[in-house]
Amino acid sequence: MVCKETVDFKKIDEIITECGGKKSNLIAILQKVQEVYRYLPEDAMIYIGSKMEGLSPATVFGVATFYAQFSLDPKGKYEIKCCDGTACHVRGSMPVLNAIKARLDFEEGKLTTKDGLFSLETVSCLGACGLAPVVVINDKVYPQMTSDAIKVVIDTILQEENK
Ligand code: FES
Repeated sequence: MVCKETVDFKKIDEIITECGGKKSNLIAILQKVQEVYRYLPEDAMIYIGSKMEGLSPATVFGVATFYAQFSLDPKGKYEIKCCDGTACHVRGSMPVLNAIKARLDFEEGKLTTKDGLFSLETVSCLGACGLAPVVVINDKVYPQMTSDAIKVVIDTILQEENK
């Protein structure tokens, strides 16, 4: 099971101050919090909503759930984005996606591995259709993936992580 992190409220205070402490900067604040935790912990959103003038926890939750860039669930250290847009789909993204799911230990119904190392997201275009099918892991682009090639990529990461 992936553990939700304990929030360092001093760090959240620093982020609020750094962003000028205004409610109009809420998105920038949430982006920075997500950079620290790789998702938006519930305790952090409640804290921001109670601490900042003109906001409430409900408003912060509303903003966080409205924008697709924010995740309310913990992400893995390695965030896998597997494209299943049209160009990638017709060139075989499904076998690649299935190979990722088969190779990694996802809990039933979850898209983050039990050890918290990987999370998986299916996206509709990564803007690199000429390289289809495409997988991005963190900021690295893996072009023209096959089920065998993605297994090698994942195995290399697992080796580097001594898993
Ligand atoms: S459809 Fe996959 S990168 Fe565009």
